[in-house]
Amino acid sequence: MAEPSPILSADRPLVVGKARVESVGERDTAWTRLIFVYLACATSWLIVGTLIGVYLSIKFTAPDVDHVPWLSFGRLRPVHTNTVFWGWTSLAMIALVLYVVPKTSQRRLYSFPLAWISLALINLAVVIGGLCLMGGINNGGQEYREYIWPVMAIFASGVVLTAYNLIRTIADRGVEEIYISNWYIMGGFLWTSVLVTIAYLPFYQQNGISETVIQGYYMHNAVGMWFTPIVLGLTYYFLPKLLNKPIYSYSLGVLAFWTQMVFYTMIGGHHFVFAPTPWWLQTVAIIFSVGMIVTLAAGTGNFLLTMKGSGRTIARSYSLPFILAGVIGYFLWSAQGTLEALRSLNLVWHFTNYTVAHSHLTMYGFVVFLIWGGIYGLLPRMTGREPSHLLAGVHFWFALLGYFIYTFALMVGGTLQGVSWILNAPFIESVRLMAPFWLWRAVGGAMMFLSHLIFAYNLWRMRPLRLERTMPVAQMGALA
Ligand code: HEM
Ligand code: HEM
Repeated sequence: MAEPSPILSADRPLVVGKARVESVGERDTAWTRLIFVYLACATSWLIVGTLIGVYLSIKFTAPDVDHVPWLSFGRLRPVHTNTVFWGWTSLAMIALVLYVVPKTSQRRLYSFPLAWISLALINLAVVIGGLCLMGGINNGGQEYREYIWPVMAIFASGVVLTAYNLIRTIADRGVEEIYISNWYIMGGFLWTSVLVTIAYLPFYQQNGISETVIQGYYMHNAVGMWFTPIVLGLTYYFLPKLLNKPIYSYSLGVLAFWTQMVFYTMIGGHHFVFAPTPWWLQTVAIIFSVGMIVTLAAGTGNFLLTMKGSGRTIARSYSLPFILAGVIGYFLWSAQGTLEALRSLNLVWHFTNYTVAHSHLTMYGFVVFLIWGGIYGLLPRMTGREPSHLLAGVHFWFALLGYFIYTFALMVGGTLQGVSWILNAPFIESVRLMAPFWLWRAVGGAMMFLSHLIFAYNLWRMRPLRLERTMPVAQMGALA
């Protein structure tokens, strides 16, 4: 009988065994509880928001699945986007920020009551905002600012209070330097406060072309100056901590920070290439979109060089693979955006499902993966409880494969859609050709959703042992 192949032999494990984290158990239980409750709220929004996403994707293959007005595509779509933006991603980021800022400032968070109030305000905004959108009460067809202004004012109050809480913590820091993470985090908070104000000020709400210019500015900065700098700032903390080595280059981090501030804030016009906005404005946006390659190379290079030589540590960790995937995603999918901004390619892809693929590649493959890496890196160390290692792996692979299926289907389909329009084929042909790609998107989306359920279970496994309010401040830190 032939010898069994060593590759298939039974004692070869199916997956690389993951190292148990060193449980240091955060003794400031009020802090652990705050961060856990933020994450629990965020995860609930992830489930709600992406359940709606799956339902929307089913509607593409079965448009007559319901005839209820408040479940119609036009109403549910903004509920999906706003819930995942403000409910899930924002709250999850803020949870991690509430850990990183005090830790790197070597001070306790300035005010716990303020942090709880901010949480309540943001949750309230997402609940009221979602209900209003389903009821048909919205701010018109302006993407990511569909919430009417009183609702957005509630959300903005939560953001401003958090910003104040963080600034006071940093101002009172116990070290001289402001760590690079806090540059990014504060940059994100300050920009967003300005951005939301501009986007909602009544005298910017003109109808017509100037509103389109403001919309481009708002839309791209919402993703580029809120989610992007904050998750990058978090990564500047979590990556070196989890690898137990310093970041490769502080200067590269500073270069990436300033180029982000200069280039990113100027590129909103690329959302309306060929629109009747000033041609020079579009050209500036395109040039700065190309300039973003400098930021991407500096940021990604810094992270990858920090990871160099740590392959084994990454393989044996269940948090670092998320960070690795997120860092690679940051470069690849943002660089894809640079290509989309070029006139020759925008001509093919604009208005097609290719853009939807780019949205999910970046928001999900970059931002959300880095958030998951941070959560898996932090919570077990804070609470002393680990998730199932196997289920953390299943979460990773379902999310990764799911979003690959989702986005690759739409990238291929979206390109064919664009070509069909260029060839002046009857519009219905582009709808027919999309049918199989929309089906694959629903399959990928369902896998992503399943991974979120697993993540929710893992989060529950990592809950603090005692959720009750106890003990005062302790000097001991989870990732100190
Ligand atoms: C170098 C960086 C980036 C560039 C140059 C870029 C470029 C673009 C362009 C040109 C579009 C418009 C496509 C069209 O409508 O024809 C777009 C859309 C979009 N991008 Fe990016 N992108 C970048 C990074 C990112 C990142 C990091 C995120 C998320 C964190 C993101 C999220 C989005 C979203 C959500 C849309 C869809 C907006 C809509 O609803 O129309 N992008 N991007
Ligand atoms: C189970 C996972 C998800 C599914 C099935 C899903 C599905 C969808 C669907 C069907 C749309 C409408 C596309 C269209 O109008 O043609 C959409 C839009 C969008 N979703 Fe998701 N989604 C998921 C997760 C997420 C997450 C986690 C985020 C952000 C963190 C996100 C951000 C967006 C954005 C930004 C858009 C607007 C796209 C654009 O206009 O370019 N989605 N999603």
